[in-house]
Amino acid sequence: MTRVFSGVKPTGHLTLGNYLGAMRQWAAVDQHEADAVFCIVDLHGMTVDHDPARLRRLTRQAATLLLAAGLDPELCTVFVQSHVDEHARLSYVLECVATDGEMRRMIQYKDKSARERARGGSVRLSLLTYPVLMAADILAYGAGEVPVGDDQAQHVELARDLAVRFNQRYGHTFVVPKATLPRVAARVMNLQEPTSKMGKSDDSGPGIVYLLDEPDVVRRKVLRAVTDSGREVVYDREGRPGVANLLEILAACTGGNPESLASVHQSYGALKKDTAEAVIEALGPVQARHKELCADPGYVEEVLRHGAEKARAMARPTVDTAYRAIGLLPPVAEPALNAAR
Ligand code: TYM
Repeated sequence: MTRVFSGVKPTGHLTLGNYLGAMRQWAAVDQHEADAVFCIVDLHGMTVDHDPARLRRLTRQAATLLLAAGLDPELCTVFVQSHVDEHARLSYVLECVATDGEMRRMIQYKDKSARERARGGSVRLSLLTYPVLMAADILAYGAGEVPVGDDQAQHVELARDLAVRFNQRYGHTFVVPKATLPRVAARVMNLQEPTSKMGKSDDSGPGIVYLLDEPDVVRRKVLRAVTDSGREVVYDREGRPGVANLLEILAACTGGNPESLASVHQSYGALKKDTAEAVIEALGPVQARHKELCADPGYVEEVLRHGAEKARAMARPTVDTAYRAIGLLPPVAEPALNAAR
């Protein structure tokens, strides 16, 4: 059975982009068809300025939302990255296989570091090395598939490269993973700036639909979405990004396809109205389940405790193998120590 691994970073409230681009697929398909492992990657939440209390709160909230979105701990493994030491252990080893040039070429690094510098801030070293930690997340579990949105494809590609390079230099150790993207909505765009991704860490609130937004808020945000200057509803990502984004969101929520949905809408107003209602309908069950789970924090904690235990057992042998392969001396086992005395 294929091992699938994916994760979400608790750097902000989760968005419709996270849901349609990744989480929904994890719940609807991956956990049923694969040996699936999902992680709240809290170590990745410290690569930019962060507030410790907020990071803890968002980590718990992300875990609760993953379960609310339908991840079933009977079918898959859900855990918090910092609860399993193997991620950090393997990350360092992979830093000895990756090059700084590779890191500097990563689009997210270029964008985020430029933004940070423009604000006069400093760039954390972990922002540069973050894709290596992400590769460690994936490779430690021997994951063959990594279901992600389009913005993470380059990072998964790096994980592939590092796996191949390590295997060639030090002997076969890692499964070489590949990214799997959803059919539609692999890149949900900001409703106010349809040429930029809808990102949870962005400042532009009105363009971002959060999973926990009330129906009225969702309606307002979608109805005020920036569209394009034309009037006819056509699906053209390059020429009409605003309308294309709404069509993709509607298609993802209803299971349709953007081209045929374009042909049944006569105006931008009608398209916005249908999209808003479809999003509200898609988020309704997630929000209801989230409310139930918030009333039972002990359950979420227990899922995470058990998840970390399972994850540790999965990752440990691979990371130990990588340590041996790259030349690290294994620690002496207890009985031998006793014998030596
Ligand atoms: P993160 O937390 O930014 O996003 C989690 C998942 O949601 C997808 N996504 C989107 N999909 C479509 N449209 C959008 N607007 C949108 N925004 C986010 C992301 O592609 C992702 O699949 N580095 C990763 C987390 C990570 C990870 C991993 C993922 C760490 N280790 C190992 C897979 C495997 C990240 O920042 O995702």
